[in-house]
Amino acid sequence: MCRFFTIWMCTSLLHLILCIVCAFGLYETAPPHIIVFMADDLGWNDVGFHGSNQIPTPNIDALGYNGIILNRHYVLPSSTPSRIAFFTGLYPIRLGMRMQGEGIRGGEPRGLPLNIKILPEYLRGLGYTTKLIGKWHMGYHTPQYTPLHRGFDTFLGFYNSHISYYDYRYSNKNMSGYDMHRGDDPAHGFNREYATDLFTDEAIRIIENHEVPRPLYLQLSHLAVHGPLEQPIDEYNDRETIQIREPNRRKYAKMVSKLDKSVGAIVHALGEKGMLRDSLILFLTDNGAPSIGRCGNYGSNYPLRGTKYTLHEGGVRGVAALWSSRLQKAARVSNELVHITDWLPTLYSAAGGDLKDLGEIDGIDQWRVLSEGYGRGREKLLLNINEVSKTEGAIYSRFKLLRGENGFYDGYYGDSGRTLETPPYTEVVLNSTVSQSITYHLGGPVTQPSTMLQLRRDGTVQCDTNLTYSDKRLLTSCNVTECLFDIVNDPCETKNVAEVYVRIAKDLDRYLEYYGHILERQMITRVDWFADPRMRNDTWEPWINSGAVIYVSNAADMLGNLIYYIHISIIFVSILLNNYI
Ligand SMILES: *[C@@H]1O[C@H](CO)[C@@H](O)[C@H](O)[C@H]1NC(C)=O
Ligand SMILES: *[C@@H]1O[C@H](CO)[C@@H](O)[C@H](O)[C@H]1NC(C)=O
Ligand SMILES: *[C@@H]1O[C@H](CO)[C@@H](O)[C@H](O)[C@H]1NC(C)=O
Ligand SMILES: *[C@@H]1O[C@H](CO)[C@@H](O)[C@H](O)[C@H]1NC(C)=O
Ligand SMILES: *[C@@H]1O[C@H](CO)[C@@H](O)[C@H](O)[C@H]1NC(C)=O
Repeated sequence: MCRFFTIWMCTSLLHLILCIVCAFGLYETAPPHIIVFMADDLGWNDVGFHGSNQIPTPNIDALGYNGIILNRHYVLPSSTPSRIAFFTGLYPIRLGMRMQGEGIRGGEPRGLPLNIKILPEYLRGLGYTTKLIGKWHMGYHTPQYTPLHRGFDTFLGFYNSHISYYDYRYSNKNMSGYDMHRGDDPAHGFNREYATDLFTDEAIRIIENHEVPRPLYLQLSHLAVHGPLEQPIDEYNDRETIQIREPNRRKYAKMVSKLDKSVGAIVHALGEKGMLRDSLILFLTDNGAPSIGRCGNYGSNYPLRGTKYTLHEGGVRGVAALWSSRLQKAARVSNELVHITDWLPTLYSAAGGDLKDLGEIDGIDQWRVLSEGYGRGREKLLLNINEVSKTEGAIYSRFKLLRGENGFYDGYYGDSGRTLETPPYTEVVLNSTVSQSITYHLGGPVTQPSTMLQLRRDGTVQCDTNLTYSDKRLLTSCNVTECLFDIVNDPCETKNVAEVYVRIAKDLDRYLEYYGHILERQMITRVDWFADPRMRNDTWEPWINSGAVIYVSNAADMLGNLIYYIHISIIFVSILLNNYI
């Protein structure tokens, strides 16, 4: 309604009411442009606003300091489940296809079920242009599972969990191939550009060519900072990162720093195009850093316990910040409990959509709570139930119940990075492209150093613990008895208080039991050798033509060739169906 609001309306009596409503901002103007940066495997301690001086992230920090630092933002413990939750607003346990379990491996015939509508499809309904750059990882065995068939107008990126940064290849077992696509087709002709730059340049092009009155949904799901550890070769040696002794950690730091520059460049482009004032920018990671072990990237979740793949805080308490000039109360740290499923309703609501359109979902609309800084958000959330690895967890207020961590990655890893202190932190943030763009294009002052430092203190997790961070013998293990942690007073999960708060532990038990009944059990799926890129010009591509869903049961697992017959019969059945419908 206020979309066409101009000051002359206020001179006409007829428009007086509209004028008052618009002038007082009681009614939002046009839907905002929504820009989502989804980082991959970024550690809790690897942005400046959580207290580390090791890696310069002045642009991401500036978004947080001028917007909201979301300090209790929970995600799923690995990529596929987290992305599914983000896009659907649903807990992955509901969806089948092993969505609560391991990430989809290259050549595995499964993906987010086709009957589930996702965020870009909903936003399209509100008139948005929808763009995805970077990682997909929600299935691609048939063309129907890929981004252009799930609500995105354009796509430049990769289908699998990760690729190499310079030659865009992914390997699984004895299969290896190129994985960079534009739309439905393989994309060639790049001159070995570092992936983070490739994606950033694409985003800038999209912004420059955007037809402004139309709202834009742009999601940049960066490859950074997933392994393999490949640093940008052009990166100069920042004073900070050069002080990092561990060579792999130093590489990782340069990758993070590049990611931060991407945020700066895109905010700059939004400013130049005149879109910044009407933008809402969300920065988040899909899960915590896998500091060590499988696909370890040397990220740090300090001082939190655990890594990616665990339900400890290091795995599921994910870095996140929200910026928009439309936030009524900005420059603050929010301790509101937010779950990654909340973004679908929250963004939809911020875009002016009617929540009823979304049906029954697990996410809740947090727009008003976040924007205005009061009211009630959520009190409870399900972290996940993985009935195969036998781990599960849930949060109620300040308590978290955990069961069945296997003890592999549940210790403390990663640098604290608290010691270095040059050059002056706040000056670097004020000098960042994001701060400069906000000042220049929005005209107002940005958050000043004293406030920044206060927010930084508020955003830093303090643990009143004396654990040496390698001494695992002192850890409370949750694989034999269940654990209840008071994650507000003991964010590092050192003391099991299940016997102190018996009633709360029971409550959370029942809550988990309830979801245990809803859960769709995981079937065994196996890699389909028909997916081999060698059959498709060395490229990972959909390898099944029909829109079929393939489940391979235990029995079928023993008969590898059965997959072939399933293909044939599904194609046959779908031909039949096509003829009759
Ligand atoms: C890859 O390995 C699997 C089993 O180990 C085998 O069945 C398949 O034929 C191999 N594929 C190629 C292309 O070598
Ligand atoms: C439980 O975790 C501890 C380490 O935290 C490990 O030593 C032990 O083997 C685990 N037990 C089971 C049954 O997984
Ligand atoms: C910030 O920018 C000013 C002006 O460009 C420059 O003089 C100063 O050295 C910069 N400070 C830092 C810490 O980069
Ligand atoms: C940490 O441990 C050391 C020695 O083990 C002890 O002297 C110190 O008081 C402890 N600090 C705290 C905060 O418990
Ligand atoms: C096969 O891939 C190469 C790059 O590896 C590309 O140049 C060529 O055009 C592709 N061929 C077809 C038929 O797509």
